[in-house]
Amino acid sequence: MATRRILGIETSCDETSAAVLRVEDGRASVASLVILSQDVHRVFGGVVPELASREHLRTIGPVVERALAEAGAGLTQLDGIAVTAGPGLIGALLVGLMYGKGLGYWLGKPLVGVHHLEGHLFAPTLEDLSLEPPFIALLVSGGHTLLLDVEAWGRYHLLGETLDDAAGEAFDKVGTLLGLDYPAGAQVERLAREGRPGRFDFPRPMLRDGYAFSFSGLKTAVLRAVRASADLAADRADLARAFQDAIIAVLVEKTARAVAERGRATAMVGGGVACNRALATALAERLDGRARVVVASPRLNTDNAAMIAAAGAWRLEQGERSGLDLEPFASGPLPGIVGNQVRAG
Ligand code: KG4
Ligand code: ZN
Repeated sequence: MATRRILGIETSCDETSAAVLRVEDGRASVASLVILSQDVHRVFGGVVPELASREHLRTIGPVVERALAEAGAGLTQLDGIAVTAGPGLIGALLVGLMYGKGLGYWLGKPLVGVHHLEGHLFAPTLEDLSLEPPFIALLVSGGHTLLLDVEAWGRYHLLGETLDDAAGEAFDKVGTLLGLDYPAGAQVERLAREGRPGRFDFPRPMLRDGYAFSFSGLKTAVLRAVRASADLAADRADLARAFQDAIIAVLVEKTARAVAERGRATAMVGGGVACNRALATALAERLDGRARVVVASPRLNTDNAAMIAAAGAWRLEQGERSGLDLEPFASGPLPGIVGNQVRAG
């Protein structure tokens, strides 16, 4: 089978990213990946939608050109375009979507809109060629926390999701309480490494309670402890440690239970929070001898266009095409999701 090249575009939040995938015999490999993280939001403690759109608009052209150059591919050598259609910030998504549509129309090449979370699901396949359904997937990002039984590509059984904050959001909010810059996940992890375990005891919400998650009570518990602290500078690392231990305990418990109850031999963790080494290590220890744990490298777990191209390549292979009427969406379930708790945003 001939080599095909798929261009991926991701602009759902505050990363402007483009990637070229080389697909051969159904196997995809990254020919290039460019990720431009927007710095402008740092001082605001969160992503400012209008600023995000403007930054995407300013940089999308050069980012795509750079991805093509690094892959040594000309525009006419592309065989398809995959672009994130949602969920995300509408104005931000529109920039990537318009760019992808324009390019696809002009080149006469097929375009497919990709659900951002399906991108996160496909990310590890770019490094671990043996990752194939069925497997349990824990998707933990700044906007989502989902536990899925991936029965097949495109068929996702929703086991549970968060009732309030997403896992990454909890990391970010706790980071703010501890005086860290947004996004704080990686800094909280670093701080927690210096912390002593057990000095603070935080709740492990809904630990044995089905597959749903809730993190707002945990965040409030950290807030109370921060307010009660007589010397926050001295307590910060221990607070970060206790928070991280609590959230990881919940994520690991539910994922391990899903692996056992659904009889799966593989568990994957995806999304930005999957960059957390302590989470991957705790899950691997818990499932040792029972299931394999698959986690992509940090570059593929934070928002990037290679994962969008990977999911898009699969959808294009299924014959799926998006028209020029493809619209961005702020929230919406994964395509092919089944289960009785469908609320996924
Ligand atoms: O998937 P992602 O890049 O963007 C969304 O789709 O939301 O995830 C970003 C989230 C942020 O909340 C960030 O703080 C968190 O992932 N994150 C981490 C770590 N690295 C990034 N959380 C915990 N530990 C980390 N090492
Ligand atoms: Zn994401």
